[in-house]
Amino acid sequence: MLHGVERYVIEGEGVLEGGLLPKSAANALLSVADPMMTPEKRLLAPKRTFCRLFPEASVLPDAAALIELGLAMETEDGQVAKDSSIAAGFTYFGQFVDHDITFDQTQLTIGGEANPNETPNHRSPALDLDSVYGGGPAARPELYEADGATLKIGVCAISQDGTGAEIGALPHDLPRRGDRVAVIGDKRNDENLALAQLHLAFLKFHNSFVREFQGATPSLTGDRLFARAREATIKHYQRIVLTEFLPRVIDPNALEFILSHGHRFFKPEQHDHMPIEFSVAAFRMGHSMIRPTYEWNRVFTAKATPSRLAEATLSLLFEFTQFSGSDVPGDSPFFGAATLPSNWIVDWRLMFDIDGAPPAAGLSVNRARPIDTQLSLKLNKLPEFSGAGETQPALFSLASRNLLRGRLVKLPNGLEVADAIAAAGLPHNKLTEDQLRGGPHGAKLADVGLLNNPPLWYYILREAETSAFGTLGPVGSAIIAETIVAHIRKADVSVLEDPAINQIQKIPRYTMSDLLNRIGDLNPIG
Ligand code: HEM
Repeated sequence: MLHGVERYVIEGEGVLEGGLLPKSAANALLSVADPMMTPEKRLLAPKRTFCRLFPEASVLPDAAALIELGLAMETEDGQVAKDSSIAAGFTYFGQFVDHDITFDQTQLTIGGEANPNETPNHRSPALDLDSVYGGGPAARPELYEADGATLKIGVCAISQDGTGAEIGALPHDLPRRGDRVAVIGDKRNDENLALAQLHLAFLKFHNSFVREFQGATPSLTGDRLFARAREATIKHYQRIVLTEFLPRVIDPNALEFILSHGHRFFKPEQHDHMPIEFSVAAFRMGHSMIRPTYEWNRVFTAKATPSRLAEATLSLLFEFTQFSGSDVPGDSPFFGAATLPSNWIVDWRLMFDIDGAPPAAGLSVNRARPIDTQLSLKLNKLPEFSGAGETQPALFSLASRNLLRGRLVKLPNGLEVADAIAAAGLPHNKLTEDQLRGGPHGAKLADVGLLNNPPLWYYILREAETSAFGTLGPVGSAIIAETIVAHIRKADVSVLEDPAINQIQKIPRYTMSDLLNRIGDLNPIG
């Protein structure tokens, strides 16, 4: 089943990027969405907005207190970084999922207000990779090769390793315009290099299905070939989300509970909308998984080897993208190269546990930071804000932004949501006052007067910090399980289409290792 046509014309925006339409329907829409489209017709199209799973906050926290707490949370540098058991690639897989389903462009102001029910979500909330497909070949032809099915890939700039040996112009970058802007379905996927390389892996994964299906059936071309490859790509992606990613970051019991008992908070009429508790709190848990430094490949490593040039810091992973670029205003991304220098192509064996391909001798897979109330220091000055016109330093900080955005949309506090989850019969275990007072920032929470009104994002991180399993606790897990299961069930291509799939075991397991082995680009620079 394809999405209904009416979902794609959004007032003031024309055809939404997230739609996927057959060429004929897309062309028809493009012509009516342009100047000929009357306001009346546009109004017929329902808006995709955010929605609430829980009632809004009863008491708004003080903005200055939130900023103080946020800045205190971002302190971890490379010297003291801790490891979880989760392979670091899953941090960016999470960010990739986030960018597939939620995109809030409301400007953040200290002390402002926004109503989620009237706030557009600029992504389709379904797990349908609209961030990759951009609405399909008819809506975004610039993403595709002339066959109308293959996604374009970019070529790296020639570079050198630490010995001066040349690394060639390999096809391992995102496609880019002359001004280096990535030509992809969601510009945010060029925000840091780990995410950009993961986006590239998905472009190549889709193209691998195009080649396979066309090889098997040469008469399959154009729209039909594209649709088949898209369907295979999305289903494998959803399988990774359900069978590999979620069981690592949330309590697997919460996922089983939602699959077998159905939704507790998400209502059928919300199926086109994104729960604000997911986008502004629960799924931002990934911000604490970001490491300050990485073992990246044989050139960018902490190990003193002849081919080494430098350590791969988080700052450099921003620098080697166009979207973030440098935090020095006016500096060009990639240190001036036209595209990603080839010595920055990732060695995937260092980011995921790959079957049959361990990291090179002496190296091990990077592990994500534990999910807890600590964040990497660099996140207190994001180049996308500090290098680009934002004037209030408090808004350079990711943790402060998360907390202030929670206030902007009046998120309920963590204790209120914990009560609601217990009342609905879900697995629960409300944090005690002592537990909230504990941890590296419990004293700060109390100091700034938020002990009885703990921000939902902070509460969810603190739940994880107290968990024996290193995953999110009951509140974080319930919000994420509800949202992801609902938005996989409602995708036009869905591994959960059959309602009889009510247990994880009924979904065939697929892993990032399978995906990367299939595309075969484990370590292109050797
Ligand atoms: C270096 C890595 C990352 C950076 C620099 C980053 C940065 C950001 C920024 C600047 C925002 C918008 C903040 C605001 O104005 O409210 C944001 C939103 C968000 N982030 Fe991250 N993030 C990163 C990784 C992640 C990861 C790993 C996850 C999850 C696993 C994640 C989940 C989210 C979600 C769900 C949103 C809300 C998106 C929306 O609704 O528009 N992020 N992130």
